[in-house]
Amino acid sequence: MAYSDQVIDHYENPRNVGNLDKNAKNVGTGMVGAPACGDVMRLQIQVDDKGIIEDARFKTYGCGSAIASSSLVTEWLKGKSLDQAGEIKNMDIAEELALPPVKVHCSVLAEDAIKAAITDYKGKHGTAEVAEEATS
Ligand code: FES
Repeated sequence: MAYSDQVIDHYENPRNVGNLDKNAKNVGTGMVGAPACGDVMRLQIQVDDKGIIEDARFKTYGCGSAIASSSLVTEWLKGKSLDQAGEIKNMDIAEELALPPVKVHCSVLAEDAIKAAITDYKGKHGTAEVAEEATS
């Protein structure tokens, strides 16, 4: 199966590969796997004190489409609020990368990873924080 030019571009020159400190309070980490193929994606966001995503990184052990999807969303995430980030849909990713139907689940992985990263970030700034303070 041929990959689109967009996928090849991201696959050959992935943007924002790497790690952020997952223990940092301003970092949210999302780790998700696709049961169908076993591919795994880790997406991290770094949020400034105004609630805007200032940095994003990924590491993906998976197919070219999954790597391209995660690379693309790290570019999209920067400068967005958490609410705006939560609105990114896998079909937007699939459309941008011209993914064929059998590869749409790779973009779902990226959407799920964004949501998981936001949830992790919010957990550090919401109930989890309160619980921690109550016991200390
Ligand atoms: Fe499963 Fe791409 S083939 S994430």
